[in-house]
Amino acid sequence: MPEDSELTSYDSVDIEVYLKHVERPLSWNNLYERPAMLALLPSLKGKNVLDIGCASGFYTKYALGKGAYVTAVDISKTMVDRLAASIKSPNLKLLCADIAKPMPFLESDTYDCAICSLVLHYIKDWKTLLAELYRVLERKGRVIISTHHPFEMYQYLKLPSYFDFKLVEDTWGSSGPHPFNVRYYVRPLNEVLRPIIQSKFNIISIDEPLPDERCKELAPETYKRLMERPGFLFIILEK
Ligand SMILES: C[S@@+](CC[C@H](N)C(=O)[O-])C[C@H]1O[C@@H](n2cnc3c(N)ncnc32)[C@H](O)[C@@H]1O
Repeated sequence: MPEDSELTSYDSVDIEVYLKHVERPLSWNNLYERPAMLALLPSLKGKNVLDIGCASGFYTKYALGKGAYVTAVDISKTMVDRLAASIKSPNLKLLCADIAKPMPFLESDTYDCAICSLVLHYIKDWKTLLAELYRVLERKGRVIISTHHPFEMYQYLKLPSYFDFKLVEDTWGSSGPHPFNVRYYVRPLNEVLRPIIQSKFNIISIDEPLPDERCKELAPETYKRLMERPGFLFIILEK
């Protein structure tokens, strides 16, 4: 039986196809997740930033560009090697590791900000990760999270029950020439909030942002859908 993390690692995804999918100008990442996430990030200049589930490193590169010192972690060796080849910076530390497990290689009380963009839904049990993030953040350090919205998942996947908490296999890019499969967890809202409430973090905000004017102009159908159904949930936590 493979471990959870082997099932969700992008080592089992065709990464070049995934990247083409995500980097399309009209992807949800470009139209919706990234503008919303960037608006929530604190000033990063001179800060120690952790990019959790960094994938191809959009936020790693953004934070380096803003003058941050970045530690980026992903379980996929292919992603980490690819990112290492695409960027050389003395301010970047790249690690291949499973964030669902303790991360003793990260120093305690060190980071000002942890970016958790679209990665929590690959993790079944968030308890260890939240405790580790709490340990490694400085006092008042923040975790900025984006993750699948449970209501959207229930509708999009046509789940038998909104309350399902399980691993699903999904096909992305089905309207394009190269569909590919990904596995992630779905869970209801109470299972999103419970581990957070039980952690030591203070909850600063929980947002369901609306798409912006750029999205309306470039992709009216996506705009209409996101105006009616929230795609992702954004959460800010503070130590
Ligand atoms: C959708 S991508 C994240 C997107 C990325 N943060 C961005 O901004 O473009 C999800 C990433 O999470 C990683 N991942 C999945 N399970 C993981 C785990 N247990 N530990 C570390 N990384 C994991 C995958 O390998 C993949 O690179």
